[in-house]
Amino acid sequence: MYLCIFLLLFVYQCLASQVQQVPVGPLPQWLALQDDDDPHPKQPGSRVPVPALYHKRYSEQTFIGTHDAVAIRTSENNWSLSGNQYFNVSTQLKAGVRFIQAQGHNDPNGKSEIRMCHFNCALMDGGSLHELLATVKSFLDENPREIVTLMLVNVGPPLEHWARAYYDTGLDIMSYIPAPDKTFGNMKTGDWPTIVEMVETNKRLVSFLDKGADETQVPFLLREFNYMFETSFVIDHSSQFSCEPSRPWYIYGYIPDRLSLVNHFLYASFLGFRYPNASYANTTNGAGFREGELGEHAVRCRSLYERRPNYLLVDFFNEGDVFDVEYGMNAY
Ligand SMILES: *[C@@H]1O[C@H](CO)[C@@H](O)[C@H](O)[C@H]1NC(C)=O
Ligand SMILES: *[C@@H]1O[C@H](CO)[C@@H](O)[C@H](O)[C@H]1NC(C)=O
Ligand SMILES: *[C@@H]1O[C@H](CO)[C@@H](O)[C@H](O)[C@H]1NC(C)=O
Ligand SMILES: *[C@@H]1O[C@H](CO)[C@@H](O)[C@H](O)[C@H]1NC(C)=O
Repeated sequence: MYLCIFLLLFVYQCLASQVQQVPVGPLPQWLALQDDDDPHPKQPGSRVPVPALYHKRYSEQTFIGTHDAVAIRTSENNWSLSGNQYFNVSTQLKAGVRFIQAQGHNDPNGKSEIRMCHFNCALMDGGSLHELLATVKSFLDENPREIVTLMLVNVGPPLEHWARAYYDTGLDIMSYIPAPDKTFGNMKTGDWPTIVEMVETNKRLVSFLDKGADETQVPFLLREFNYMFETSFVIDHSSQFSCEPSRPWYIYGYIPDRLSLVNHFLYASFLGFRYPNASYANTTNGAGFREGELGEHAVRCRSLYERRPNYLLVDFFNEGDVFDVEYGMNAY
């Protein structure tokens, strides 16, 4: 009897630790041989805006997002398996990506500037947070009617270093700040401003931080899980794309009146290492309704949430037809 309970606990512990595991571990060099050596990435498509949504709330639209937006595979890095995209952030924004997700790490050389790396800066360093913000700032300056959202994963740097990069690039004054009574989890989807309101006030950047946010200190870095929920991000098979809330942990079993982040990227694995499944990306990012395609996943989530999913987060955004999916969501 006790042995059974012990075994059950052990199995449970193993499962729990698997779920919490960072999905991509350090990849040995020779693993590169296992994937497509010359992937011939497709040229990015382009977003087709739906003008009617200009007068609707920020929370009533679907945006395409890039997962690990700064981790770029190119021929120069031998199509590094640590890369999740084929094109850099300025190309992503020009094409129509409006939600950028990236991880910020402490500088391994001890500087206070935050480095945007995936998992570990030795594997892939996608530049500093200052550089990322400068790219976003120039896009916003050149496109005065566009809104961009940053989803920043905090792997350690203190809040003051995050805020510093905003002050230095002038993005603090372009950042959307919720009314004080809408912080701490009180912001419902119906409380978000319309796009036209955000444009007219020039508050066109929305920034979320997953950990370490404190809106009483830095009001423009919003604590992610006070405003949104996410679906599971550990997907090893194209049949596993889920719409159920998976984080924060306390919302299991119901759909909160919050923004929704739908994770739609597929991992391949080899000897226990997870890395992005690039060879299947054109299907994963497809606009069709077959299992594993973004189109199917988005429609299923919309029907469960009874509203549009807000962010569809993908790897290799140029593959498949992600902007067709976005248009389909927003136009109907
Ligand atoms: C890419 O591969 C070539 C040939 O194997 C090697 O010489 C070069 O150092 C590699 N470059 C990187 C950035 O790994
Ligand atoms: C991003 O990529 C484009 C197209 O490849 C290139 O022209 C541009 O210089 C790159 N930007 C940065 C900041 O590397
Ligand atoms: C990518 O995913 C497809 C569909 O699930 C699978 O058939 C293929 O083996 C995966 N690729 C790798 C390298 O694991
Ligand atoms: C994805 O690309 C492969 C290889 O180029 C091709 O055979 C396949 O038909 C493509 N799938 C879709 C859904 O476009």
